Amino acid sequence: MVNLRDRIVASFNKGELRALCFDLDIEYENLHGETLLEKSTELIAYCLRHGNLDTLIEKICQLRPQEDCRQLRADQHEAQNELNELANQSDFFWSRAPSWQWDVFGREKNINDLYRLIHQTQQGSGARLCVRGAPGIGKSTLLARFLFHDRLPDIFDGVLWTTLGQTPNIVSLQREWLHALNEPGLYLRSPTEIKGQLQRIIHNKKILLVIDDVWQVSHLKPFMIGGTTSTLLFSTRGRDVAAKLSIPEPNLYHLPELDLKSSILLLQYLAPNAYKYNSSRFEELALQLEGHPLALKVAGRMLEKRSWIRHDLSETINQLLDPISIMEREVPEDYRDLSEGQSHKVLSVFEKSIQDMNKDTQVRFAMLGYLKQKPATFDIEALDALWDGRDIEDTLLELIERGLIESAGNRFRIHALTKSFAQKLQEEI
Ligand SMILES: Nc1ncnc2c1ncn2[C@@H]1O[C@H](COP(=O)(O)OP(=O)(O)OP(=O)(O)O)[C@@H](O)[C@H]1O
Ligand SMILES: [Mg+2]
Repeated sequence: MVNLRDRIVASFNKGELRALCFDLDIEYENLHGETLLEKSTELIAYCLRHGNLDTLIEKICQLRPQEDCRQLRADQHEAQNELNELANQSDFFWSRAPSWQWDVFGREKNINDLYRLIHQTQQGSGARLCVRGAPGIGKSTLLARFLFHDRLPDIFDGVLWTTLGQTPNIVSLQREWLHALNEPGLYLRSPTEIKGQLQRIIHNKKILLVIDDVWQVSHLKPFMIGGTTSTLLFSTRGRDVAAKLSIPEPNLYHLPELDLKSSILLLQYLAPNAYKYNSSRFEELALQLEGHPLALKVAGRMLEKRSWIRHDLSETINQLLDPISIMEREVPEDYRDLSEGQSHKVLSVFEKSIQDMNKDTQVRFAMLGYLKQKPATFDIEALDALWDGRDIEDTLLELIERGLIESAGNRFRIHALTKSFAQKLQEEI
């Protein structure tokens, strides 16, 4: 990807890049970043995401006949392969890592902070680091993106990743690690036995153990297999787990909200058409949602959907800016870790998004509250049973468009906060 990007930077200035985007029907303003380098990187990423890197190369070849098009094609393949490699996981990933996410905004500084922290503590070895932060603030997203930091392979031999959640199946998750390490270990039954075996296998290796979404220390312990050569990096919502493990203050990383600029960029990215006609209100909205990515996501998607019917969205934005209407509502348990004001704002965004749907879709959304906590993702068959086999794909598509369900490969995921809102809704419908 770097070669291709460098070629674009060398052959186009900002104005020309803007024109190129226009020709490709891509909103230049929506590409993340300011500099020519950032915009070019994002343009390639955008085209990779949308499967039209081919068209981009073709256009460059037309506009810059002096460019060696064969070389450009080679660069294109390199970029595509890089993406595939990331997705299929190189030797560096010893367990199934989360897939590479393109649409991550404003976390460059946090990723660099985390890298610096790991780099420093790795010298001491056997380090334990904790990423803390409110529900939905982006801990899992940050960790997933961090795994692809290009300098991690300089420090570690490999990465093992797992996600625990509230009620993890410890043995089955440990077995995934055994499997990743090519060790069947079927004769091993208890978490202690499997832990011992894992410890033997990775003895003396430098591994980054990433454990996402830890709720209890007892859940984490079976995965603390690193000894003195590895680093443990885990995420959790509250202070409890880190305190019980006596993680020293410098090894605690508190993940903040997105800053205002990144919040606006995220909204703009999610709602380009809404932004075109209501740009002056986006800053106000971003401020109101206090950099909470999940709330920004649901609000952005709702505005975009509405903008196809009506350009002026003043009324909807005013409603989003006024969470008073739900102040009386009981806050679901999952929201309690958010600050009081923020929990109401996030709830309010969900509520507005739900009000925007027809009754049937509302009821179907509420039913998602019945989905099992585990596994964290579900397939379309699970919805078939839940929704009586009717209009499954249309409803699913609508909920994805609204940011209430996320697509994860050929499976789907609902965020814990969204699901607890669905459960709350069940009581009210
Ligand atoms: N920097 C970001 N840019 C764009 N979207 C983001 C960003 N961070 C998070 N999101 C989106 O916000 C939602 C919540 O993020 P995530 O699941 O990472 O939060 P979390 O802190 O892990 O939540 P929880 O405490 O419930 O585990 C996801 O849909 C994710 O895609
Ligand atoms: Mg998470």
